[in-house]
Amino acid sequence: MSKRILVANWKMNVNTETIQDLSKKYLNRFGHHDEVEIIICPPYPYIDGVKNIIQGSRIKLGAQNAAEHERGSYTGEVSSGMLHDIGCKYVIIGHSERRKYYNETDEVIARKIASAIEASLIPILCVGEELSIRREGAYLKIIREQIEKSRILIQKSAIIAYEPVWAIGTGTIPKMEEIAEVAEMIKGLSRFPLLYGGSVSCDNSTALSAIKKLDGFLVGAASLKSEEFNLIHQSLLNPNIA
Ligand code: PGA
Repeated sequence: MSKRILVANWKMNVNTETIQDLSKKYLNRFGHHDEVEIIICPPYPYIDGVKNIIQGSRIKLGAQNAAEHERGSYTGEVSSGMLHDIGCKYVIIGHSERRKYYNETDEVIARKIASAIEASLIPILCVGEELSIRREGAYLKIIREQIEKSRILIQKSAIIAYEPVWAIGTGTIPKMEEIAEVAEMIKGLSRFPLLYGGSVSCDNSTALSAIKKLDGFLVGAASLKSEEFNLIHQSLLNPNIA
């Protein structure tokens, strides 16, 4: 098994005060352990502040998105090169909230991944089906298409996160065997580390950590609660794999 990975996606849910508090708690709990790769993804304006707090520790920095272009007149955009320049090692690409609210297509996502790689960032590609697709039974085909169209399979280094859209922020997660089925398919396509994301909590992390083909989790809401995130971390440290 490759090194386990735990990504904290703080989304747009923090401010100066909470960022400082959370970053210090993360530093105390995870800063000097490296059994699990902890990756914090703050909103852009706070990345530098988090960096100052976690500097010198084992915790890594990521961003939640990046532009598809490397530079130029793209008001409001932030390039992968800039993110690398300020100390990020990872970037989340193609999160379902970006696909849904900002119309990111698989083609845009492919360009963002190429830009991230060009800037020496490791992309964390998010894929996953809508509930209607799951009900129709076409989920494996859709997820495979998302992965193939992103052109991530031609890259040397990347992470893939399986995040069923209907599980994100809903408190509902698929059955363990449903996640295992998708994980099996994705691992058949690529050797990259595979994460599960979507309502990961301290109540389900032990069961999730027993899924053999998973290398870790991408955590949204529960990553804003340091105690709960710590429990999720514990599950990854001591997986119940039979
Ligand atoms: P959640 O978010 O853990 O709050 O469901 C996960 C994600 O959006 O990556």
